[in-house]
Amino acid sequence: MSLIERPRRLRTTQAMRNLVAETTVVPSQLIYPTFIKEGLTEPKPIKGLPGVFQNTEASLLAKVDRAIAAGIGGIMIFGIPAERDELGSAACEPNGILNRAVAAVRKHAGDKLVVVADLCLDEFTSHGHCGVLDDHGNVDNDATLVAYGRMAVELAKAGAHMLGASGMMDGQVGYVRQQLDEAGYTDVSILAYSAKYASAFYGPFRDAVESELDGDRRTYQQDPRNFIESMREVRLDVEQGADIVMVKPALAYLDVIRETAQSVDVPVAAYLVSGEMAMIELAAEQGLIDRERAILEAVASVRRAGANVICTYWALELAEMFYARKTL
Ligand code: PBG
Repeated sequence: MSLIERPRRLRTTQAMRNLVAETTVVPSQLIYPTFIKEGLTEPKPIKGLPGVFQNTEASLLAKVDRAIAAGIGGIMIFGIPAERDELGSAACEPNGILNRAVAAVRKHAGDKLVVVADLCLDEFTSHGHCGVLDDHGNVDNDATLVAYGRMAVELAKAGAHMLGASGMMDGQVGYVRQQLDEAGYTDVSILAYSAKYASAFYGPFRDAVESELDGDRRTYQQDPRNFIESMREVRLDVEQGADIVMVKPALAYLDVIRETAQSVDVPVAAYLVSGEMAMIELAAEQGLIDRERAILEAVASVRRAGANVICTYWALELAEMFYARKTL
């Protein structure tokens, strides 16, 4: 046959496939999410997330060393306090677990990677919601903003380079930006969780932070059936000064990542969340799929969709695979 086009010619060898691969994932594009728990004496594994632990300060700093050695772009820190209250007060105390951890990590790491702190109240509130409640038990948007503003300034003081605004309150990016600027932290950047869906895929994370949430977050996180709504959220966050906009979860929302990447002029991030990881880990454990290939494929698809920054619990392992030249 004389076929003019034979796309298979570019798939003949691994070297050929690597040569024409359109998507690469390098360690500097990865953010590694980590947990620290107040009062813990030994790192504690998290169900469904092999290799992910609730850390002590020492074990967290050891992860930071590994992340730096692996050339990972950033580390994200979630804090689990010993005590919670209605207002999530520990989030704003300089001595609170997250603020202390951020200070320790920043002191240890300097500027060798980007230190990102989660800016949200859910780990700190006794009811587990991402904000404070009004008299009727509803999450009070504007009162929550005030708390986020105070928390943001404390995290900046502790040394965070970047704050992950993950609460899905209206106006959070603009309000936090203003508070940071007024306190002199104009260089502290905001990673806006712009399109964050009310997802069932956060299951293992809720265990990881021992969430007390009874109910759901559907009055503030987005409805998974919606796409246009995400474009609105992304637009609002960019207008309010978001430095990076994020889509979360990732794998079930590749269309949202794609459209976001095409419509903004700031970097786009995506968060491969705990449940997405657990699905792959459990299927691999059962011998149903090839674990490494599935991880590489999942992460490549998020990159291909248009995310240039990826938050993933596999960050260290992906970096190791990168240096070992393991590719799809
Ligand atoms: C809330 C927050 C959540 C995650 C990150 N930040 C959970 C939620 O909205 O309940 C989930 C991350 C994951 O599942 O890996 N601050």
